[in-house]
Amino acid sequence: MVQSIVDTKFAVSNTQAYESGVVPRRGETVMVAGEGCWMIDSEGQRYLDLTSSQGVAMLGYGHPVLTEAIQEQAGRMHACPNFFHNDTRAEFLSRLNSVTPDHLTRAFLGNSGAESIDGAIKFARLATGRTGIVAARNSFHGRTIGALSITWNPRYRRKFEPLLPDVSHVQFNNVDQLDEAVGDGTAAVVLEVVQAEGGVHVGSAEFLAAAQQLCRERGAMLVVDEVQTGFGRTGSWFGFQHFDLEPDIVALAKGLGGGFPMGAVVYTDEIQESLFSGAHGSTFGGNPLACAAGIAALGVYEDGLIEQAERAGRRLWEALEAAIGSRRVVREIRGKGLLIGVDLRTKAVPFLKTLMEEHKVLALPAGSTVLRLLPPLTISNEEIEMAVEAIAATLPDSV
Ligand SMILES: Cc1ncc(COP(=O)(O)O)c(C=O)c1O
Repeated sequence: MVQSIVDTKFAVSNTQAYESGVVPRRGETVMVAGEGCWMIDSEGQRYLDLTSSQGVAMLGYGHPVLTEAIQEQAGRMHACPNFFHNDTRAEFLSRLNSVTPDHLTRAFLGNSGAESIDGAIKFARLATGRTGIVAARNSFHGRTIGALSITWNPRYRRKFEPLLPDVSHVQFNNVDQLDEAVGDGTAAVVLEVVQAEGGVHVGSAEFLAAAQQLCRERGAMLVVDEVQTGFGRTGSWFGFQHFDLEPDIVALAKGLGGGFPMGAVVYTDEIQESLFSGAHGSTFGGNPLACAAGIAALGVYEDGLIEQAERAGRRLWEALEAAIGSRRVVREIRGKGLLIGVDLRTKAVPFLKTLMEEHKVLALPAGSTVLRLLPPLTISNEEIEMAVEAIAATLPDSV
């Protein structure tokens, strides 16, 4: 029985997980269940999950509100084509509308982060009649051909070239480079306000404000990629709210459905006017099951989880600073809310392996030297203490 699960896992497994060292190469661990902030393998071993399954299980695993909503909807209607109105979809859209800024009145529903980015690129092209995209070095926007074209890491991109034309990458937080790159052929500037996978780099207020101003002056769309930073991850509903930005387009996924696969592009009325019939679409996008999960997740976020995430983020940060902040091996601890990077003076992957194998704690890499922590927003004080103790026991005092 377990053998067949392992075979399936190899067949469908995400190669990135092997590269990153999160899953040991022997591939022996088979995760079969989750409970709160814990994952449980086929041997009954429990792991404290500081990854939220790559940032999606924001409510942890088995949250009763999410589980019940999915079960109820599955029993009633799990699919409904987009050419019919659907009650669950309508309710979800209205809830999403109520938590996003007032000027973002439109939403396209898809299934993943990369798909949201692809939609954002298409909408920006139509709205401006231009093709250029300016993104940032160290950005990560996904792996479909469109999203990959603006993702920075050349290792992910090189073998798929030629990709989309007219894409340039400026140094993150470098206003001069941005000023030079945004011109009259620029359809969009696409940015994460906290670069996650690229190394947990927080955008500077000056850089992000300049991005907005340059877009306004030069007729380009400001697209914020909130796929990883949305829904409380950084301690506010959306990361761009820390910087008082008013993006034209926001790409969402991960936490949107509390871990149920779904994505969305939210955008303005003005952009809607430039879309033609058939400009974009998705068979599965906006399916009732995902929308039911989305309604449930939004309800839990609204019920105080965002504030709880902000408090937990501060606590985790302070505990890390106290336990390991002065160690020589730690170059810097940075991030926002519950998206925290511990930048090391050495490679991160060996420590991730030790954390998992010896301490049963799961974390992610970000770039080559950063341990990335993005636990479920429901993480308790006790779990934060356990996590920090394990990290402190794993990292050496010196390099
Ligand atoms: C900021 C950001 N954008 C886009 C994506 C792509 O999302 P997905 O893997 O759902 O396609 C990710 C995934 O990690 C991400 O972190």
